[in-house]
Amino acid sequence: MALPRPVVLGNWKMNGLRADGLALAGALAERAANLSGTLGIFPPATLVGEVARRVAGSPVIVGGQDCHEKPSGAFTGSVSAAMLADIGAGAAIVGHSERRHGLCEDDALVKAKAEAALAAGLLTVLCIGETEEEYLAGRQIEILERQLAGSLPGSGNADRLVVAYEPVWAIGTGRTPTIGEIGRTHAELARMVAAKVAGDPVALLYGGSVKPDNAADIMGIDHVDGVLVGGASLDAGGFWNIYTAGGGV
Ligand code: PGA
Repeated sequence: MALPRPVVLGNWKMNGLRADGLALAGALAERAANLSGTLGIFPPATLVGEVARRVAGSPVIVGGQDCHEKPSGAFTGSVSAAMLADIGAGAAIVGHSERRHGLCEDDALVKAKAEAALAAGLLTVLCIGETEEEYLAGRQIEILERQLAGSLPGSGNADRLVVAYEPVWAIGTGRTPTIGEIGRTHAELARMVAAKVAGDPVALLYGGSVKPDNAADIMGIDHVDGVLVGGASLDAGGFWNIYTAGGGV
């Protein structure tokens, strides 16, 4: 069964000590006792277990921002998908641009991570997106096609896999593509993903400078099933308003 829409996910990045993180998660869980859509939060790895316990009993999904491609072993500093699942995570992000570009993760590694997350039973959020240089050269579709070919896991289906289109130049900058541009890109993305993943349509998210005041316009676009939110997910009220702007109750 496909994930209920809208799919609104909040990536806290490297933000949140225990007190703030638990307060944020608690405030969200109070609003989200019943959900028509899908709401997820991705705290730093240190808080995944505690946040999962804090929201237990609500439908809010808690996930890791990354996972290692192997289940266990001599990989200092890394966290496996099975470890995330073991502490209550239901999801993992893989291929975020801050890891692709900041930590040199390539498509093959991202694919291995996505497959590890799926194997651990996690909802897997695969991020793709072009750089500003590629955007200015009009190469979005070519780049997305290449990233999908290289990093989309072989075994995903629509209730376990989400694809997030996040233009690198729109992340944390306050800039977004136009509504028309997002619409054209997502129409192509829908076609490309459908050609690779059989069955129900995979949820396609837009990410990059999504705020309460642009969320309704963005989620009103065809083939945009939800959003992946960074900075604006650190405020419970604002993040909830983004969810409701997408039609979620
Ligand atoms: P932003 O981040 O909403 O702060 O632009 C989005 C993301 O990195 O997922």
